[in-house]
Amino acid sequence: MGDLTTERSSQTGTAPVLVASNRGPVSFGTADDGTLTLRRGGGGLVSGLSAIDDPDAVWVCAALGDADRRAAREAPDGRLDRAGHDVGGQAVRMLDMDPATFARAYNGVANSTLWFVHHLLYATPTAPSFDAGFRTEWQAYTAYNAAFADALAAEAAPGAAVLVQDYHLSLTPALLRAARPDLRIGHFSHTPWAPPEYFRLLPDDVAEAVLTGILGADRAGFLTRRWALAFADCCEQLLGATVDRTALTVTLRGRTTRLGVHALGADADFLRERAHRPDVDERLATLREAVGDRRTVVRVDRTELSKNIVRGFQAYRHLLRTRPEWLDRVVHIAFAYPSRTDLAEYRDYTAQVQQLAAEINAEFATPSWQPLILHVDDDFPRSLAAYRLADVALVNPIRDGMNLVAKEVPVVSDRGCALVLSREAGAYAELADDALTVNPYDVIATAEALHSALTMPAGERADRTKRLAAASTALPPQQWFLDQLHALHALDAGGDTADPGPGPGPRPVNEAG
Ligand code: F6P
Repeated sequence: MGDLTTERSSQTGTAPVLVASNRGPVSFGTADDGTLTLRRGGGGLVSGLSAIDDPDAVWVCAALGDADRRAAREAPDGRLDRAGHDVGGQAVRMLDMDPATFARAYNGVANSTLWFVHHLLYATPTAPSFDAGFRTEWQAYTAYNAAFADALAAEAAPGAAVLVQDYHLSLTPALLRAARPDLRIGHFSHTPWAPPEYFRLLPDDVAEAVLTGILGADRAGFLTRRWALAFADCCEQLLGATVDRTALTVTLRGRTTRLGVHALGADADFLRERAHRPDVDERLATLREAVGDRRTVVRVDRTELSKNIVRGFQAYRHLLRTRPEWLDRVVHIAFAYPSRTDLAEYRDYTAQVQQLAAEINAEFATPSWQPLILHVDDDFPRSLAAYRLADVALVNPIRDGMNLVAKEVPVVSDRGCALVLSREAGAYAELADDALTVNPYDVIATAEALHSALTMPAGERADRTKRLAAASTALPPQQWFLDQLHALHALDAGGDTADPGPGPGPRPVNEAG
C-alpha cells in the first residue's frame, strides 16, 4: 500500500479519464500449479466504462484477496495491463493494500458502518457503538482513501476527469483535490443517502469528514433526486453549507459542488442476448420441470440485510396461510447469492433466510409441490432463467440505491411479469406507476400485493411490463457513464446542469425496451 509518509510525486501521469472503485473489473485466483488465474467481472460500471474507447483510461481498484495482492505486487506500479494481464478495454492499477488495513476499511467502516447508516440497518438500542476499535478502523479507512488519492494523482494527466465511486471512497475526492487541483473530480454514490437525523449517528468528526470528502469533488452524483437531496440536507444541517435545491448545488467555504442525478438503467442488449444462450435455456428447463404449470414469484438478490428477504418470505407464508387458493398453484423461486461473508451479520442473516425457507416448505409442501425453491449459491445463467420464468418479481428492500433486478426482470421475462416493488428502492422513482408498490416493513400488505400481482389480467400485465421495460432501459450503463463524463467536462465551459440529460455521445443500446 502507498506509504502515506512519502512525498507525493510532483509528476503527473497520462490518463485523460480515470475511474476509482473498491472492486475492480478483474479479480484473481490461484490455479493448482500456483499460477494466477484472471476472472473478469460484470456490472454497470464495467459496462459503462466500455463506452470509453481510450487505451490510456485507467481504472484504479483495490486488491481484495491474496491472489489479487500477489498480482498487484508483481505488476509494475500495480498496473496489471503492463504485467501482460488481459484486463479488458482500459488499463487497471490494482492497489496492493496491507490486508489488515483493507479489512478495517472495507469490512469495518465501509460495510459495517457507512452501509448500515445509509440503509438504516442498525438495531439502535445496542448499535452502533463507536469505541476505540472503531477509531482504528477509521484510521485504516483514511489510509485506504489516501492510497487511492495517491494512485489517481500519479496516473492522471493534467486536467484529467476522475470518477470516484461509492461509500468506500468518500474521502478520496478532497484528498485528490489537495494533491491535484487541476483535475475534474466526480464522485458517485451507488447507495441511498441517509437522512440527517440518522446520518448524525456517526461521530461528529467522521460525519464531517465524509461530507467534506465528497464535497472535494466538482460533482457529486446520485441514483435518484431523493438521495441527492438527503445528501444536501446533511451538508446543510451538519456543516452549515448553503444549498440550492433547484440548481442542486452545495456551497461550503466558497466552493460549490454540483449534485447530479443519474438513474442507472438496465443493459437491454446484453441481457436479452445473454438470457437466450444455451446455458440459460438448460436451467430454464430444470426450473420449468420443478414449477410445472404453477405461477411463479421470483426474487434474486445478494444475501444482503437491506434486501429484506426474511420479510419477503414472511409475506409469502402469509399469502399461503390466508389465501388457500394458492396452495399447490404457486412456487416462490428465491436466489440469494453469497455476499460479504466476512461479516457475522451476513452469515447470521443467510442462516435466518435458510431457516425460514425450510419452515415454509415444512408447513406447506406436498409430495408433488415444493412451495419455495431457495438457492444460496451464485449462478448468473440460472438467475436469468428465473427472470424469464417470472410471473411476479418481488423486490422489497428496506432501502436500496436503485435495485437493478427490478429493472432487469421486466426486460427479460418471457411472458411479462407483475412487479411488486418497495417504495424505498431507488427504482421506485421511475417504476412506481406500473409496479405494485409496498411498504417493505408491512408483511400483510406485501402478501396482498403478491396476490394482486398473481391475479393481474394477462393483458394488463403485458402492458405494464412493456412500460416497465422502457423505463428500465432509459439510461443504459454506457450512457449513464458518458453523461457523467460530459457533465464534468461541461464544468470547464461553465455549462453543467444538475440533471444533464443525454450527452452528445451515441446511445449504444436499444432503448425501446
Ligand atoms: O450498491 C453498492 C455496491 O457497491 C454495488 O455497486 C455492488 O454491486 C454491491 O454494493 C456489492 O458490494 P461488494 O463489492 O461489497 O460485494
